[in-house]
Amino acid sequence: MPAISASAPAKIILFGEHAVVYGRPAIAVPVDQVKARAAIQAEPLARQGIIKIEAPEINLASTLEQLPRDHPLRVTIENVLAALKVTSPPAFTLRISSTIPLASGLGSGAAVSVAVIRAVSSFLGKPLDDQRISDLAYQTELIYHGTPSGIDNTVVAFDKPVYFMQGKPIQTFPIQHPFTIIIGDTGVCNSTAEMVGYVRARWQVDPTGFETIFDQIGSITNQGRQAIQHGRINDLGPMLDENQVLLQQLGVSTPALERLINAAHQAGASGAKLSGKGGGGNMIALADPQDAPFISSALYAAGAVRTIITQVH
Ligand code: PMV
Repeated sequence: MPAISASAPAKIILFGEHAVVYGRPAIAVPVDQVKARAAIQAEPLARQGIIKIEAPEINLASTLEQLPRDHPLRVTIENVLAALKVTSPPAFTLRISSTIPLASGLGSGAAVSVAVIRAVSSFLGKPLDDQRISDLAYQTELIYHGTPSGIDNTVVAFDKPVYFMQGKPIQTFPIQHPFTIIIGDTGVCNSTAEMVGYVRARWQVDPTGFETIFDQIGSITNQGRQAIQHGRINDLGPMLDENQVLLQQLGVSTPALERLINAAHQAGASGAKLSGKGGGGNMIALADPQDAPFISSALYAAGAVRTIITQVH
């Protein structure tokens, strides 16, 4: 049997994080510069059902059954096998690698899940469509995130810009004019579950105030979609800034994020905001493509540990 491999991109959220957990829309786009990969090699000499997993970047070399029952990789593979009604697969080795930084809001967990689900289902001769891959990856997101909205697995599985609302069918939409985003990483890793929990605790104290902020974020997300769809890229910068003010009000921005956001503005970005859970992780800035390298240098000077320049198209 030939070796099979599959990959999945990283993602960023342009508009709507946190509000999306409360039923408002959000927009996320894939970032193809970094990827998770899953490669499968059949092991015809090994006993049927034996699955070996190697992920050198996280020092993992194990069989499936040696992993703890709630290990995300074990859950992912067992869910695919169950969905495909395969009880005893031919023996194989699964090798996982990823260039996506971990726990920084770029969707590394969802990308690994999607790559693994895609590779395993193809290897078994039963490739799944993007929606089923996304649904299965969501099951693993539940372990990482607690109460995930589902946006990460959706954008990563479809590998397209998505307009996402919890519980609604996914909507993709055309990008009239490509635009350039610079991603800056504060280097501060934290858990999505923790940040979502933090916002929830504040929402419980002031539900009316927080619902109003979520509505305002939802309205910016809708305006953002219109601007992207109609190629009004100049309108997007101020919208990113407005969304950032609302994220500050939710309490998820930090001095390190603000430093990077200010540096991006000073270097010529037309708008900037944190992206993802906040409390650390990444910020994004919108800029003319020719200014992107300068903004990237300014972000490093302001403390970024990594930058990625990406085109949304
Ligand atoms: O994992 P991150 O950093 O991209 O954050 C996910 C976005 C949230 O809206 C904060 C949570 C969610 O599940 O949508």
